[in-house]
Amino acid sequence: MHRFDFSGDTTAAISSAWGRLLKTPVVRGNGSWVHDIEGRSYLDFTSGIGVTATGHCHPAVVQAVQQQASELLFGQMNCMLPDKTVEYSRALRDVTPEPIETFFFSNSGSEAIEGAVKLAKVATGRPNVIAFQGGFHGRTAMAMALTSSKGIYREGYQPLPSGVFFSSFPHALGDQRESEVAIENSLADLERLLKTQSMPSETAAMLIEPVLGEGGYLPVPPGFLRGLREICDRTGILLIVDEIQSGFARSGSMWAHEPSGIQPDILVMAKGIASGLPMSAIGASKDLMSRWRPGSHGGTYGGGSPLAMAAALATLNVIHDENLIENANREGAYLSACLRDALSCSPHQTDVRGPGLMIGVEFNNETGPDQGFVSALQHECLDRGLMLLTCGIGSNVIRWIPPVNVVRKDIDTALDIFECSINSVMERKDSAMLSA
Ligand SMILES: Cc1ncc(COP(=O)(O)O)c(C=O)c1O
Repeated sequence: MHRFDFSGDTTAAISSAWGRLLKTPVVRGNGSWVHDIEGRSYLDFTSGIGVTATGHCHPAVVQAVQQQASELLFGQMNCMLPDKTVEYSRALRDVTPEPIETFFFSNSGSEAIEGAVKLAKVATGRPNVIAFQGGFHGRTAMAMALTSSKGIYREGYQPLPSGVFFSSFPHALGDQRESEVAIENSLADLERLLKTQSMPSETAAMLIEPVLGEGGYLPVPPGFLRGLREICDRTGILLIVDEIQSGFARSGSMWAHEPSGIQPDILVMAKGIASGLPMSAIGASKDLMSRWRPGSHGGTYGGGSPLAMAAALATLNVIHDENLIENANREGAYLSACLRDALSCSPHQTDVRGPGLMIGVEFNNETGPDQGFVSALQHECLDRGLMLLTCGIGSNVIRWIPPVNVVRKDIDTALDIFECSINSVMERKDSAMLSA
């Protein structure tokens, strides 16, 4: 068999668009671990930005994909209806909230956001969409136009599609998180926007992540979601909930918006949906979905592949059979408590937050976001074998997003590495200050 020679610059033929945490090529993954070509193992607490919900290569997912590959690799949705798509759409209907009961499948989160906005526009006959500051919804043109979590996602690409308006996010830290004042102020901003910039009669939808992802792992206060629902009910604007990162048990509920008690008009799902195969879904009521006339939306691969459907079905079974909602709650509470404990004597002002296994740890110093410290900490963790991502407008939030089936032993290993890394970065900082 031909063996590839990995010496030299391994990225020479790969686009520079990808910034990368782990530089050496990875050859294998199992559970919360990945292994590189040099034989090093890393605890992957990025889950590929929330994709490998059931860990790397869960045996049930692998088996389902292998079986499907031998039966039907592809069935184009305008030409035929793969049986796995029928089976999965019914299984998904069983776990989505009322009134979500019909689905359009596609391949990526951005593609599903684009589709959700198209559906909202065609269903209401209205042109505009409102998004919230700090949100991330993807990188295709409309998804980019709806994104405001960092300048890099938009810079150089403007002007972007029009008809997008941003309203404020009720941003508050620590004890202030559920603050009625923050919620009321942001709802008042939204009402003002609807009176001054995009009238309800011109507004098709509002789009919100129930937990800001790229924007800093900030949960939306349930009272704010309820306020949005009330405004939407009053004005006929559709409420689109982007659960692309927070869905499928990640938050300790099947859907992160659940605890608020609201019902979305359109639910957008991706990432953890199929444990690593590219897939996304737009869910809506039958009535709303039927406003999409045949042919008015689609795509060669729109429909998702039977392989992804098989992986998604296996993923739902694993979530159910292995009690992953319970695991996310129990292990998330443990991880959050240990992180608070570990940071109790930190010279930084820290905030540990987020539902289930979607935990953000924010670091601020006396002048504000400490991006330098967080970046040094992230790389120290990597050197010691722990992969973690950052997020937040100030890039000063470490995000903890391990597989939803992560086991206690791996969490403890990660916490040990994290604490040692903090000490080591602090020591380096202290000795640099001494020698300065
Ligand atoms: C909340 C949210 N929406 C949309 C997207 C875009 O998904 P994709 O990268 O699959 O296009 C992401 C990706 O990180 C996301 O986190």
